[in-house]
Amino acid sequence: MSTPPLKKLTEPLTLFLIGVTGDLAKKKILKAIYKLHEKQLLASPFTLIGNARSPLSREEFQAYVKEIVRPSDDGTWTSFAKSLQYVAGNAADEATFAKIKALHQKLQKQRTCGNHMWYIATLPQLYLPIIQNLKQCQLHNSSCGWTKLLIEKPFGTDLASAQKLNQELSEAFSEDQIYRIDHFLGKETVQNLVAFRFANGMFEELWSNKHIDHVQVTHSESLGVAGREQFYDATGATRDVVQNHLLQMIAVCLMEEPASLNPDDIRKSRSALLKSLTGLSGKNMADHVRFGQFTAGVIDGQKVPGYLEHEGIPAESNTETAVALKLGIDSPRWAGVPIYVRTGKRLARDVLELSVQFKDKPNRMFSSIKYGPDPNILTFRFQPNEGIVLRLFVKKPGHGIELDMVPMEFCYRNTYQMDFIEAYERLIHDASNSDATLFPGHESIESSWRIIDDVLDYQRRVKPDPYPAGSWGPESFTKLIEQDGREWIEPSIDVCSV
Ligand SMILES: NC(=O)c1ccc[n+]([C@@H]2O[C@H](COP(=O)([O-])OP(=O)(O)OC[C@H]3O[C@@H](n4cnc5c(N)ncnc54)[C@H](OP(=O)(O)O)[C@@H]3O)[C@@H](O)[C@H]2O)c1
Repeated sequence: MSTPPLKKLTEPLTLFLIGVTGDLAKKKILKAIYKLHEKQLLASPFTLIGNARSPLSREEFQAYVKEIVRPSDDGTWTSFAKSLQYVAGNAADEATFAKIKALHQKLQKQRTCGNHMWYIATLPQLYLPIIQNLKQCQLHNSSCGWTKLLIEKPFGTDLASAQKLNQELSEAFSEDQIYRIDHFLGKETVQNLVAFRFANGMFEELWSNKHIDHVQVTHSESLGVAGREQFYDATGATRDVVQNHLLQMIAVCLMEEPASLNPDDIRKSRSALLKSLTGLSGKNMADHVRFGQFTAGVIDGQKVPGYLEHEGIPAESNTETAVALKLGIDSPRWAGVPIYVRTGKRLARDVLELSVQFKDKPNRMFSSIKYGPDPNILTFRFQPNEGIVLRLFVKKPGHGIELDMVPMEFCYRNTYQMDFIEAYERLIHDASNSDATLFPGHESIESSWRIIDDVLDYQRRVKPDPYPAGSWGPESFTKLIEQDGREWIEPSIDVCSV
């Protein structure tokens, strides 16, 4: 399969980045934009108008961006620096957008008509006022070129607020103008799930309750919450990671085959899968959901404090720093196949992987040979040491017959001696080229909240179970899966040699 080469926009583009001095802009967005410039994949001419409240002159802003992108080549940097503009002001004030508009008009006079991309990467409480200000200032549409809106998560904090946000968005923008960012969908390894499933007919045949026993997702972080205490305590693991990233990833893995590679078809399939997640309302929640909160422990040989010991975290905080869930899908293909998900902070190691465990078929020939309880497992390791591994039985060399479980693996780094395209680089490029494949639509976001609202309602009623930092979570996580006669697959050394 050949991939179409990345395209450079042929019309001028102005990117308005709200929250340009924030953590995300610093860590990801500005570097991604600069990478696109280095690869000559940005539109030409390109203008970046940044906004935050900090009173920076244009020169100070250019110096600030330079410090972040650390250019290796003077010429490439000089041409990029020329495209940088900055407008200081409160994004909640209409006047700030009037100033941005005036600057844009002034710059546009010197150029031909071009396209516009608004990128909201600031505090979530500013999303609604920003959308209203864009509308008030007639910046949501232009007679000159197209206007698009990129918007960061969170898309609401529950179903009602997500619906409100979608409502506000839809009053200013049409759905095809809106690009909601879920950077997990921009990961090369997550995109490969689609290729793996639909380009390899043999696996697609196996992809159902006929052959698959269950699916597991582990997203574990050894990092804690230092520096983000206020944000994290108001958010928790369920909202931070499950509602968006992990459910979208599950959708990619389990969706029905899209009718084509067309963005609409792929988005439709992902959305349909999320819509078919079995609701938890009326269920015995303890059988489906468990929460954890880390206590003091040891990570990488270093003692680390417990969650409640952090300055800024209320002593009685009920926030879950880890969560384990059992989900299901109402569809003929997936009926009876549980999906177990666990994620958390201060867990044993940094891993993101999804495993598909196949059914153990009764086997006449080898039934007399003891080869352990392991069934075949297919693991997609998204990070670190990206790859795919299938655990298979082989005959151990030697006299007689003894079986051994061995990994058959594909490791990206061994096959492709190249850096992955960073998710943000891919997403910004795709949005500017009007390719919405990797962006969730409003329906899929509302479907996820429908499930997560019940989880959060339960979270408010129970105390999280303590777990020591550096472990795999509380005992209750083990019980959640053991009650079904299954166990968590510990992310192992056999996936591309982690
Ligand atoms: N950080 C991450 O890793 C990450 C990952 C995924 C998604 N996100 C999402 O991205 C968004 C930004 O997160 P962040 O971590 O970058 O936040 P942050 O570090 O707090 O940055 C916020 C940015 O917005 C600006 N700002 C704050 N209030 C403003 C106002 N009233 N008017 C204009 N600008 C204002 C800040 O600059 P001034 O204070 O100078 O105004 C700063 O540039 C959030 O929605 C977050 O959920 C973040």
